[in-house]
Amino acid sequence: MADLRDRLGCCDRLGGGGRHHSGAARGAAGPGADHPRRGVSLLEADSISRRLPEGPVLLSEASLAVAGGEFVAITGPSGSGKSSLLYLLGLLDRPSSGRVLLQGQDTTGLTGDALAALRLARFGFVFQFHFLLPEFSALDNVAIPIRRTGLARAEARDKAQTILAGLGLGSDSAKMPDQLSGGMRQRVAIARALANDPAVLLADEPTGNLDTKNAAAVFDIFAELARDAGRAVVIVTHDAELAKRATRRVHLVDGRIVSDAAQG
Ligand SMILES: Nc1ncnc2c1ncn2[C@@H]1O[C@H](COP(=O)(O)OP(=O)(O)OP(=O)(O)O)[C@@H](O)[C@H]1O
Ligand SMILES: [Mg+2]
Repeated sequence: MADLRDRLGCCDRLGGGGRHHSGAARGAAGPGADHPRRGVSLLEADSISRRLPEGPVLLSEASLAVAGGEFVAITGPSGSGKSSLLYLLGLLDRPSSGRVLLQGQDTTGLTGDALAALRLARFGFVFQFHFLLPEFSALDNVAIPIRRTGLARAEARDKAQTILAGLGLGSDSAKMPDQLSGGMRQRVAIARALANDPAVLLADEPTGNLDTKNAAAVFDIFAELARDAGRAVVIVTHDAELAKRATRRVHLVDGRIVSDAAQG
């Protein structure tokens, strides 16, 4: 596949210095760009725990630092705390203790509105169910979150079309979700997650409803988004075979990280 950076035409602000980047792409970030550099910790959990008021512990003292360009698979048995960890990393939930840092900034004291603004600007989320709006085309499903950043309708639709084309859906963008296959719908959901050029892409069982071939294709897209676009990509998966495609695997048991190792 061609470099996703080129195909999506949306990632230059990420900067980075990996071997897949051209000098021109690196230079485009500019010295003052506020996006992270490849290899620098982008997202960090510092000994985070999550307890419910009634007592159950969902996650215990998890520490994890993810750099731009990394593709991390979180694995573990059902109920081991994978989603809990992902939601905490994505600022969708707050830890009971410990800190989550984004680009070195401690998010602990931030208001709900500030967290929401960070999520919109810095994170893309993909879930097991695509959650596309059924009454809108693939194009509009991607253009709607782009418009939330203030871009005019025509520009937002142009950008959405570019992102969809980058994911092989250029000629399907006018279709409604129910006219697309499961794999295509999940690719639209990925396109939507990329709408605002996020530095971090988080996915919770994104291939859970896909057949083997489509699941592998979706994993390959995530791998490219990390490798070629310098994003930090973190995916929860039950599938041990697919997890091997990640550059790093973090394994949870009973709410604790029991291993964290680079792969391949
Ligand atoms: N709101 C809640 N109330 C009570 N228990 C909860 C709640 N949310 C999660 N849990 C429990 O916390 C533990 C961790 O849940 P979590 O959803 O993070 O696990 P998971 O590894 O993602 O599981 P799965 O693979 O089934 O999605 C589980 O035992 C779960 O039952
Ligand atoms: Mg889960």
